[in-house]
Amino acid sequence: MLNPARNSLFDRYLGISRLLAGQLDFTSIIKSVAEEISHIIPHDHMDVCIKMLDGKYHIAYESGLDTAWSQHPPALLTGSPIRTLLSGEVDFLLSADACTDPRFHFEGAFSSPIIDLSLRSRLHVPLKVQGDVIGALSCSSQQRDCYTVEDVENARAVADLLAPYFFALRAAEQAKRSAVIETEARAREEGLRFGALKLTEALEAERQRIGMDLHDQTLADLTRLTRRMERLTDLPSVSGDALEPLCRAMQQCMHDLRQIIEEAKPTVLQLFGVAEAIENHLERSVRESGQAIEWQMLDESGDSLRELNPTVAVALFRIVQEAVNNAIRHGQSDTIIVRLTRRDSALCIEVEDDGRGLADVREMAGHGIDNMKTRARLIAARFEIGRNPACRREGRGTRMRLTLPTDHARLAEI
Ligand SMILES: Nc1ncnc2c1ncn2[C@@H]1O[C@H](COP(=O)(O)OP(=O)(O)O)[C@@H](O)[C@H]1O
Ligand SMILES: [Mg+2]
Repeated sequence: MLNPARNSLFDRYLGISRLLAGQLDFTSIIKSVAEEISHIIPHDHMDVCIKMLDGKYHIAYESGLDTAWSQHPPALLTGSPIRTLLSGEVDFLLSADACTDPRFHFEGAFSSPIIDLSLRSRLHVPLKVQGDVIGALSCSSQQRDCYTVEDVENARAVADLLAPYFFALRAAEQAKRSAVIETEARAREEGLRFGALKLTEALEAERQRIGMDLHDQTLADLTRLTRRMERLTDLPSVSGDALEPLCRAMQQCMHDLRQIIEEAKPTVLQLFGVAEAIENHLERSVRESGQAIEWQMLDESGDSLRELNPTVAVALFRIVQEAVNNAIRHGQSDTIIVRLTRRDSALCIEVEDDGRGLADVREMAGHGIDNMKTRARLIAARFEIGRNPACRREGRGTRMRLTLPTDHARLAEI
């Protein structure tokens, strides 16, 4: 024969279990099961406190009376009146009058709600999952001395029923919070990238303006000065020999300036696009270097380069420009190949040479390579530089490879 009291208790547990189903947050669970629990453990106030994963804080959810405990979440575990239970020091707390019980009142304890709402009889049991205390279930009555050891045992059964739900809910909330933090971080990074791109755009425009000013003003002035100097050499009172090196220095200065202007003003890029600008730069730079370098430009990228946003296009061009300059200036190469390809959903640009190769990592500390990396980061492209595996001369050559995901490449809204 089943004991009728035990039988009805079993029904209550079943009732709680049924009520739990479909509840997706702590507050709704507490509200829905509080009534059923009150039939097992009569109370004026019930709360569930859940330890956060960091082990330092906890959050309280309550039913019945509203107290300050649930108003300022999360609270420090060290200030909890039931910290001994939450830390696992004791396995339950039972008090006939919590208002005067010294266990709840210590230096720094957040125990004011006990006094404010006269929560006299109190019983607390841990919520345990696989031996770990994840929180506590607490029942309080405004009457003195209401609870017995039997109530504690019943509360334990309820706590065991609730604990796995709360454990799963805490894990889900933590995952949700992590996802939000990650999304926010990504949005921030995207925002920074966007801001930096705008800045690059402005810098590029400024660079072109300076290029034009240098051309129209400084170069024109220097040309006039050189002519006047050349005319001076015709005067009998002036020694042509003394002026000759000065004239030569001026010519060199103007030649350098023309190059600076040319690089500041990627007109070919604006008029014809990245591939043409790269080819133009390769051809001109090799020619002006006076070195016997063979070069090749292989464009197998289809139309992908045409779809590029102008800021991304300028960044790509600048990166390739520096890689080509390095191959000519440092490489002592016989051949330079620039290859544009499309792989899956990415655009790939490679600059390869068969020169002396990068000697060691320390060598790669120049501004040119740093700038290439920064520009690549700004357009969310992957930048790699190292030995050229295709080089016939074993262990030599350099390859710079830039991989740009094409969904970033369009960035039409920038
Ligand atoms: N293609 C290359 N071949 C050989 N050495 C290179 C090549 N590219 C770069 N380097 C080496 O890496 C160094 C750093 O390059 P970079 O950052 O562009 O600075 P910079 O060109 O001003 O020296 C160069 O000084 C050079 O020694
Ligand atoms: Mg360089």
